[in-house]
Amino acid sequence: MINSKPFLKWAGGKRQLMNDLIARLPNSVTKTKKIATYIEPFIGGGSFFFYLNNNYEIGKSVIIDINPDLVLAYKTIKLHVKEVIERLENIQKEYLSLVSTEREKFFYLKRMLYNETQKGIDYAHYNPNWIERTVLIIFLNRTCFNGLFRQNKKGEFNVPFGRYVNPKICDKENLFEVSKSLKKTVILCGDFQLSEDYVTKGTLIYLDPPYRPLKQAASFTSYSKEGFTDEDQKRLADYYKRMDNLGANLILSNSDPHNSDINDNFFESLYKKFFIKKVRANRNINSKGTSRGSISELMITNY
Ligand SMILES: C[S@@+](CC[C@H](N)C(=O)[O-])C[C@H]1O[C@@H](n2cnc3c(N)ncnc32)[C@H](O)[C@@H]1O
Repeated sequence: MINSKPFLKWAGGKRQLMNDLIARLPNSVTKTKKIATYIEPFIGGGSFFFYLNNNYEIGKSVIIDINPDLVLAYKTIKLHVKEVIERLENIQKEYLSLVSTEREKFFYLKRMLYNETQKGIDYAHYNPNWIERTVLIIFLNRTCFNGLFRQNKKGEFNVPFGRYVNPKICDKENLFEVSKSLKKTVILCGDFQLSEDYVTKGTLIYLDPPYRPLKQAASFTSYSKEGFTDEDQKRLADYYKRMDNLGANLILSNSDPHNSDINDNFFESLYKKFFIKKVRANRNINSKGTSRGSISELMITNY
């Protein structure tokens, strides 16, 4: 039995949509509790991946993300979890022994170290620096404002200090469980299309791309903050059709343009042949993220 959950808080985390996702699993999966091959090409924090690992028997899985630091952390936890825990426990002890002003200084020092050492990282080949970098990623994620992991275009982590009284920096039990979940998992860094080589008949694929931004009055552009454009959404729809032809079972989530423009049928026209279901989620509903409300989101399956 595995009992894992995301080890990072990630923008666009899917915890809220979990029940809707479970309800949309193929009947064969629900009945047998087995998934021969699972692929998640936009893994982020991986909430659904971990849920499935806890509750289903998965033959093998492939996870992908374009963020090299995130992928480095997954790979390091898969193979060197003990070393990560040891270092993280030390950093936690040191941090929690400090008073608030010193903690703030400590945070900014680690943030600077994280950003300054980025250039020297060899993302393609494992080396012991990966352990320190994974430790820093988790530390910064647990102690920064809002507990999110945001990097600018240059890949620098730029979230300010967050004032948590007693943050759990090292969740040892969960890190071990995460490592177990990753044992039979191929972890790749790059574009979602890398997954094509692994798809065969019956493969379950969950796609959670950066959401297409809702139209915000006249200043609307098709560029999302993460640089995933309408062209990328179209490229993804083409991939979806190709994988459908191969006999894969696909679930895709995205924003519902009808929240801001009832005539915007972007996804209806891209996914004409498929099943589009609307589900509800609580999200920030203005551009500054200061007000929350329930909005509709899309879940698109090919079965
Ligand atoms: C909405 S998030 C996924 C959230 C995830 N489902 C969770 O529960 O945390 C989208 C992810 O896609 C990644 N991404 C953006 N463009 C990509 C691309 N072209 N190929 C693969 N991953 C990409 C981002 O780095 C981000 O982690």
